[in-house]
Amino acid sequence: MAGRCRRSANRPPVVPSRTCCPPSRRTSRARGPSDFLTACRRRLHDGQQWRAHLRDLERLLVGETDHVLDLGCGVGGPGLRVVERTGARLTGISISEEQVKTANRLAEEAGRADRAVFRRADAMELPFEDGSFDAVMALESIIHMPDREQVLTEVARVLRPGGRLVLTDVFERAPRKTPRHPSIDKFCRNFMVTLADADGYVAMLHRAGLRLRGLLDITEHTMQRTFEELARPVEGADRPEALGQTNLPDLFHPSDMLGVDEFGCLLVAAVRP
Ligand SMILES: C[S@@+](CC[C@H](N)C(=O)[O-])C[C@H]1O[C@@H](n2cnc3c(N)ncnc32)[C@H](O)[C@@H]1O
Repeated sequence: MAGRCRRSANRPPVVPSRTCCPPSRRTSRARGPSDFLTACRRRLHDGQQWRAHLRDLERLLVGETDHVLDLGCGVGGPGLRVVERTGARLTGISISEEQVKTANRLAEEAGRADRAVFRRADAMELPFEDGSFDAVMALESIIHMPDREQVLTEVARVLRPGGRLVLTDVFERAPRKTPRHPSIDKFCRNFMVTLADADGYVAMLHRAGLRLRGLLDITEHTMQRTFEELARPVEGADRPEALGQTNLPDLFHPSDMLGVDEFGCLLVAAVRP
C-alpha cells in the first residue's frame, strides 16, 4: 500500500470529466437550440468543482499496475481521465448499451482502447470474478441503482483485499425538515434518484464487507455549485426551453434547488479489509 501511495503522490492529479447527463438533461439538450449546456459545463470545469473531484479520485490510490472498475461509467469521461492520469487499466460498466458503445468509441478516439474497456453490465450482479479489481469508482451512479447495499456487496466481492472504493452519493443533510422540500422529491423523480441514509452509511458498508476510510460532505463545491451554474444564463448561449419556463408542472429546473441546503452530496471512501 505504501508503494501505491508514493506512486500516486508523484503523478499529476486525476481530472474526471463529467460527460454523462441524467435523462432529463439529455432531453433538454436534444430540444434546446444551442450549446447552452456545453457552455455551462465549460464554466463548471474551470471552477472549484474540478479541484474537488481531483481530490476525490486521488483517494483511489491507483497506479499503472492497477485495474480500476468504473461502476456506472456513463460515456466514459471520468474513467478515461483516470487512465490518462494514472496509467491504470480500466473496465467501465453501464446498464446502457448506448453509453457503452459511445464510451468504447471515445476510448478508441483517445488512443486508450488498449487500457480502457467498457461493457454493458448491471452493478447489482457484476459479471466479474472475486477479487478482480484494485479499485472501484462510482461517481453519481449508485444514486440511480435499486439497492445500495446489494451494489456495495458486489463491490466488496470484486475488490481484492486492500482494494479501494470511492463513490459519490446524495443525502438529506441535517437538520432534516418535515415535510421535505418539494424540490428534492422533484429532483429525485425527474432523475430517477433515491437519497442515501447518511447516518446508516458506515453500518451499510460494514454489512457489505467494506470499511470506511472517509466520509465527506462535498455539497457546496459539487451539487450546489452545479445548480447555481445551471440556473444562471450563460452569455452567448441560449437556454433550452426545457431548462427555462415550461408548462410541465413536474419538470425540474436547476433554480428549484437554489438555497435548498438540506440536499447534500456525499463522498465516501472505503476499503475491502
Ligand atoms: C449520472 S450517470 C454518471 C456517469 C459517470 N459516472 C459520470 O460521473 O459521468 C449514472 C450512470 O449509472 C449507470 N447505471 C444506473 N444504474 C445502473 C446499474 N444498475 N448498473 C450499471 N450501471 C447503472 C447509468 O447507466 C449511467 O451510466
